[in-house]
Amino acid sequence: MTTLRLAPDPDGIAHAAALLTAGDLVALPTETVYGLGADARNGRAVAAIFDAKGRPRFNPLIVHVPDIATAERYVTWSDDADRIAQAFWPGPLTLVLPLRGGLHGDHGLSDLVTAGLGTLAIRVPAHPLARDLLRRFDGPVAAPSANPSGRISPTTADHVLDGLSGRIAAVLDGGACPVGLESTILGLADTPRLLRPGGVPVEALEACLGATIPAVDKSDPITAPGQLLSHYAPRAAVRLNADAARPGEVMLGFGAVPGDDTLSASGDLHEAAAALFGALHRLDATGQPIAVAPVPDHGLGRAINDRLRRAAAPRG
Ligand code: TXA
Ligand code: MG
Repeated sequence: MTTLRLAPDPDGIAHAAALLTAGDLVALPTETVYGLGADARNGRAVAAIFDAKGRPRFNPLIVHVPDIATAERYVTWSDDADRIAQAFWPGPLTLVLPLRGGLHGDHGLSDLVTAGLGTLAIRVPAHPLARDLLRRFDGPVAAPSANPSGRISPTTADHVLDGLSGRIAAVLDGGACPVGLESTILGLADTPRLLRPGGVPVEALEACLGATIPAVDKSDPITAPGQLLSHYAPRAAVRLNADAARPGEVMLGFGAVPGDDTLSASGDLHEAAAALFGALHRLDATGQPIAVAPVPDHGLGRAINDRLRRAAAPRG
């Protein structure tokens, strides 16, 4: 199969929507990273996502919808969910809530989307192209990040094609993703839990709920099944909290620590988040081991450090 690159215009969006309707896979830009989209009601289409990525079937998918009203068709809504969604949707935040009616409810979603869990991860993205496509398609879109499983997430259409060309029908080319890190995942099926740090700082969620939000415990059964430690992995070894490159290494700087490339010379965490995956893709192409400068562990820095730790983890 030849993967089409669709232009970010009404024709491209209409073509992408028609492919989704036909049960094909379409990569789409969101403000976080590119997603690999399929009709979440079509079991054959959802199964094709797992095959194209080489993703284990036990790892459930996020469903993307255009607005809160549509989200309420698929999950059991709550006061906390409403407060958070009103404040942060559309945006880089995913909520995990009870699947409406349970596994055998009349939500119409393929069982593969939830991997048999009684909860659903759902998100309303802010990217204008994602929103236009969701409205045009008029159905729920299951979409993991559009990378081969375990590899660096894509923040440009070229990254998508590097990893998945020939395995998916099309990519809707929206240029670079402005946030650059995946969504924050907030578990609200039970007491609030941070399942994955991401594009919305947890501090902002805590301020909204007026409570601290503990990170999920690794032994907790509701842990995001995808939080396998080695992830977002470049091919080369990654060394963290480095002040300077050792012989043979390429250096990724931050703030006052210089490098062959930098996340942000001014030490800006938004700029660093947006630059992270592109920099890892570029440095990985050198084939040399990568040293990375320290990044402060607050705000978006928490999500950046989470991705860096996974990139540096021993490969399993
Ligand atoms: O920014 C993002 O979230 C991007 C864009 C495309 O939306 N998507 C994304 O999807 O990062 P993915 O599949 O790469 O990561 C989703 C994570 C996985 O770790 C998965 O295990 C977890 O969400 N997840 C999905 N459904 C879940 C559920 N019901 N309970 C707990 N974790 C869940
Ligand atoms: Mg992913």
